[in-house]
Amino acid sequence: MENVSDTTRKLPSSFYNIISFVGVGIAGLSFVAIIFLFLVDFFTETSTPYLGIINYLIFPGILILGLLLIPLGMWREHRRRTKFHSLPSLPRVDLNIPHHRRMFVLVVAVTALFLLLTGVGSYQAYEFTESTAFCGKTCHEVMEPEYTAYQGSPHARVTCAGCHVGPGAGWYVQSKLSGLYQVYSVAFNKYPRPIPTPITNLRPARETCEQCHWPQAFYGSKQSQRVHFMKDEANTKWVYNILIKIGGGTPELGHTSGIHWHMNIANKIEYLPADETREVIPWVRSTNAKGEVTVYTADPSLADGATIDQSKLRVMDCIDCHNRPTHIFKSPNIALNAAMNFGAIDISLPSIKATAFEALKPEYETKEAALAAIDSTIHAFYAGNYPELAAQKQPQIDAAVQRVQEIYLKNNFPAMKSSWRSYPDHIGHYLSPGCYRCHDGKHQSAEGKVITRDCTACHLIIEQGDGVTVKESNLAGLEFRHPIDIGDAWKESSCHECHGIAAGM
Ligand code: HEC
Ligand code: HEC
Ligand code: HEC
Ligand code: HEC
Ligand code: HEC
Ligand code: HEC
Repeated sequence: MENVSDTTRKLPSSFYNIISFVGVGIAGLSFVAIIFLFLVDFFTETSTPYLGIINYLIFPGILILGLLLIPLGMWREHRRRTKFHSLPSLPRVDLNIPHHRRMFVLVVAVTALFLLLTGVGSYQAYEFTESTAFCGKTCHEVMEPEYTAYQGSPHARVTCAGCHVGPGAGWYVQSKLSGLYQVYSVAFNKYPRPIPTPITNLRPARETCEQCHWPQAFYGSKQSQRVHFMKDEANTKWVYNILIKIGGGTPELGHTSGIHWHMNIANKIEYLPADETREVIPWVRSTNAKGEVTVYTADPSLADGATIDQSKLRVMDCIDCHNRPTHIFKSPNIALNAAMNFGAIDISLPSIKATAFEALKPEYETKEAALAAIDSTIHAFYAGNYPELAAQKQPQIDAAVQRVQEIYLKNNFPAMKSSWRSYPDHIGHYLSPGCYRCHDGKHQSAEGKVITRDCTACHLIIEQGDGVTVKESNLAGLEFRHPIDIGDAWKESSCHECHGIAAGM
């Protein structure tokens, strides 16, 4: 019986068993499905992450399972037969027998084809798991704040993996392993809200950022115009035009200067943060190109360095200043200044800055509650204080409400408890201490050298004023003038103490 069928069957007799058949069925079906979805992916502009997850992760897994079932079934079948027919325990292959030769060629060809397709498939899977759609959209709610802020940022075309993973296999594997933990924490609702920063295991920034930016190539100053509106009835405008001394260059060419040179090219700066947030920095050690070391401290008890836990020291890199290069959540004040400046909110509406600010400031429980409150606060203000104008400028008021609601939605995510409050930006010293964590004029060395707080060390103010009653300009730099008289307070305290997140501005 067995011998008869063996002559009509082309494949080894042990292949004809139920497990191998099931394996062939599974592998065949998933193969067809993969080809079909691959074509769908190729010919349509879909950006849903789920298609990728199914096609490049789940189906290939099923395909491999199916393929594994084939030899498993054959092995079991062979064992069963050796028991009953006292056959040799391993199959004999003799390439002089035409049937065996054909089988051998077939197996080699199928294996080669499979390996080739696996190569293409793994590359697709690799590309997919590094894509922005996979990172930003799979766990929509969890990543919504970061993904939303990213889309409006200068890095909107850089992939998430470009900064979070970077090149090389080692970090790819590491990031996928920590990804598995993230899948677990999302599935079992174990993740913290908001997601905490700084990210302790972030790849050293110089290995990622410097793929595209390297301080040796920076030079000169960057001009930046800052337009503000006051919270008075006239929404008085106030402008600072500053030249930020970016600097850069290479020590070899002797062409070095400014912010980036001091921090990165020649010097090494290490610091001890007071806690994980790195918001307070009591101790700093700077080593220059010649190897000279200076220790600066704001806390005299740390001065001799004996009590410092060396393992808690951090070497300053890009992220210590640029911690929000792409997930930029704007505070109400900053977002309103921008919207008013480019005309999205009509500045002829009296007190619109103050009113919109009041509407945006509270911490609302849900998005719906926030949108309703913004609408009612602004409408009620004009109906109550300027009834005639409220009727006359109805469309401008409605447009302002809509714009303020958009600002809310881009910068506040109550479901994740994250907002502009959760993530202070270390660039500058306006909203959070930023540079002033060290440059507050209170960090001193034993010899009395102070980390500078000189207003011209980092930038020059080349223009300031409201353009009507005050308009000063000087390319050599002006002394800072505050829009309203606060005496010498700006010299003694820092801007963020009155304007910062903590002060509710
Ligand atoms: C330009 C580089 C860059 C890109 C592109 C980028 N990130 Fe980030 N991301 C950062 C930095 C820097 C931090 C903050 C690190 C720190 O403070 O330790 C961060 C922090 C985060 C955090 C922690 C929470 C927070 O807001 O600080 C999450 C989550 C995150 N990124 C997700 C994403 C996702 C999803 C994408 C793609 C849609 C993405 N990132 C793209 C640089 C980037
Ligand atoms: C894959 C390339 C790439 C990577 C990686 C990258 N960037 Fe950028 N970066 C860009 C591009 C492109 C721009 C936009 C340039 C422009 O608009 O002129 C930019 C702009 C910037 C700017 C200027 C923003 C502004 O307001 O004009 C800063 C600062 C910056 N990047 C910092 C970083 C930091 C810090 C990292 C690492 C966490 C990083 N970048 C990683 C490509 C990259
Ligand atoms: C001491 C703080 C500090 C460090 C460290 C630092 N930067 Fe900057 N960087 C600044 C400041 C301040 C600016 C100008 C302010 C702005 O653009 O808002 C700037 C500007 C930039 C710009 C925009 C340049 C331009 O001409 O528009 C890029 C790109 C940039 N930095 C990348 C980097 C990278 C990459 C690193 C790490 C190798 C780095 N920075 C380290 C403070 C720093
Ligand atoms: C962790 C502490 C620390 C932080 C944060 C920091 N700096 Fe510095 N910075 C230093 C130290 C220390 C020096 C002095 C180095 C030396 O000469 O010993 C310095 C020097 C400088 C200098 C050169 C000053 C001079 O005398 O010419 C500039 C410019 C500068 N920093 C800009 C910035 C800017 C801009 C920021 C914020 C974006 C910033 N730094 C944030 C520690 C810091
Ligand atoms: C250690 C460097 C450093 C020192 C010292 C410093 N600043 Fe700044 N300042 C910055 C940086 C960096 C920015 C730009 C931040 C950004 O890109 O948002 C800035 C921004 C500003 C702005 C524009 C703010 C805005 O958004 O309109 C003003 C005004 C200003 N600084 C005034 C001062 C005055 C006054 C002093 C002296 C009491 C001073 N700064 C000292 C680094 C410094
Ligand atoms: C003692 C508190 C205090 C300090 C310190 C202070 N300010 Fe102000 N600032 C105010 C008050 C109060 C207003 C008026 C509020 C308004 O009309 O928006 C104001 C308004 C402003 C405005 C216009 C409105 C806005 O918020 O856009 C700017 C710009 C400004 N300050 C810049 C600065 C800068 C830059 C520094 C640091 C060099 C600084 N201030 C330090 C209290 C302070």
